[in-house]
Amino acid sequence: MSAQADGHFSSRIGFIMAAAGSAVGVGNIWGFPTQAATHGGGAFLLVYVLLIVLLGYPMLMAELMVGRHGQTNPADAMSKLGHSAKTKNIGKVIGFISIITATLICTFYSILSGWFISFAIAPVAQIANKPEIANWLTDFSVSRNFVFTLVFIALVILVIRQGVQQGIERWSKRLMPMLLLMLVGGAVYILSQPGAIEGLKVLLVPDFSMVFHTDVLVGALGQTFFSLSVGTGAMMVYGAYLHKQENLSKLTAFVTLTDTMVAFLAALMIIPAMYVAQHNGVQIFAEDGSLLNSDTLVFSVLPALFDSIGGVSQYILAIVFFVLMTIAGLTSAMSIVEVPTSYIVEKTSVTRSKATLMVGAVIAVIASVIVFNFSSLFGLIITLTTERAQPLIALGIAIFMGWVWHRNELLAEIAQQDGVNQNSLFWRIWPVYVKFVCPFLIVVIIMQLFS
Ligand code: PFF
Repeated sequence: MSAQADGHFSSRIGFIMAAAGSAVGVGNIWGFPTQAATHGGGAFLLVYVLLIVLLGYPMLMAELMVGRHGQTNPADAMSKLGHSAKTKNIGKVIGFISIITATLICTFYSILSGWFISFAIAPVAQIANKPEIANWLTDFSVSRNFVFTLVFIALVILVIRQGVQQGIERWSKRLMPMLLLMLVGGAVYILSQPGAIEGLKVLLVPDFSMVFHTDVLVGALGQTFFSLSVGTGAMMVYGAYLHKQENLSKLTAFVTLTDTMVAFLAALMIIPAMYVAQHNGVQIFAEDGSLLNSDTLVFSVLPALFDSIGGVSQYILAIVFFVLMTIAGLTSAMSIVEVPTSYIVEKTSVTRSKATLMVGAVIAVIASVIVFNFSSLFGLIITLTTERAQPLIALGIAIFMGWVWHRNELLAEIAQQDGVNQNSLFWRIWPVYVKFVCPFLIVVIIMQLFS
């Protein structure tokens, strides 16, 4: 974790890189385009952007604020907001649920990130003229999924154990701008291809009749929290490593903007690429117009895109892109693993390095069960964690911040920040907004599931 020996981030930029690293990941490049493609393109984009502003930004700040106030793991940070035995216990339970949710998220996340690793190696096999290995690496199989899920988990554990400050923090600073550049380049290239404009229209022109569709609303809510890493305790842990004088409004705005921009760019590349691929004879949709293999959509569209470039550059571009994606996945997975790890380290005498190994082993076992029962478990775990647990945990955080945390303590936490005028409109509105509007919006959207 990119925190100093005293348990705090080494610098503001260190925090920004770690928090943006947590937010930007597989969710942006796999999740967002897949969701947009399955949930009406422009309608999904519209609802998503609205939810990022109305819920994502204020809730991300709430989670960071609760974490920084607690300066400890999510279960104890939530419990610290309470002033009676009952509220303290409820806070602890919400924190625990977030620890379990984070652990479960890491299982499917490792499967997905494993695909990025195998797709990064496949071009090397092609260059080495080993087509059967290249096919194994890119074809969907239990053996491939199993091997690369474990490889990814091992990588995460290795990086975290080695102390991340010098590694991931420095690497992310250099590589994330490269990922952005590749996405812009990819989007520009794909938009010049025949068929792309149809995809652009699908992404940018909303079908308003879809906007209030339950699937669109619930999917966008899950995607908002998943993409910003809200409702898993990850940002609470990162908040705990943050100094009291840092102004959260600006840091949160930066992380939110970066994350949303990367998701948008990825969709701008992948949705038109689907139509270009279709134009080139790749089957993307079933007869009834639904998407074929939505989970693996990105993995059929992207290689088709690189193929169309031809020559040696296709291999180089594919390797660079999938390596960058693996790194984006790593920086996110690190923040997820930090949730259970921080709890074990604070509550037991187990060392940090042993705790990460234990967490890694648990994640590896559950992920393997999912790999061997992919069709029944993979989608289920994603829906349960991102569309059910994360919104409910966020609801718990909003209620605790608004209704349980004593107002004067919250105001003191706000006032400690550099350059903050607690009487400004922003800092007067935000606590009230989190207290009333956030829980209301989350409940209204979740209720759609039961209507
Ligand atoms: N925000 C990450 C992504 O978009 O890929 C995923 C994630 C990271 C979810 C950390 C939850 C979390 F706690």
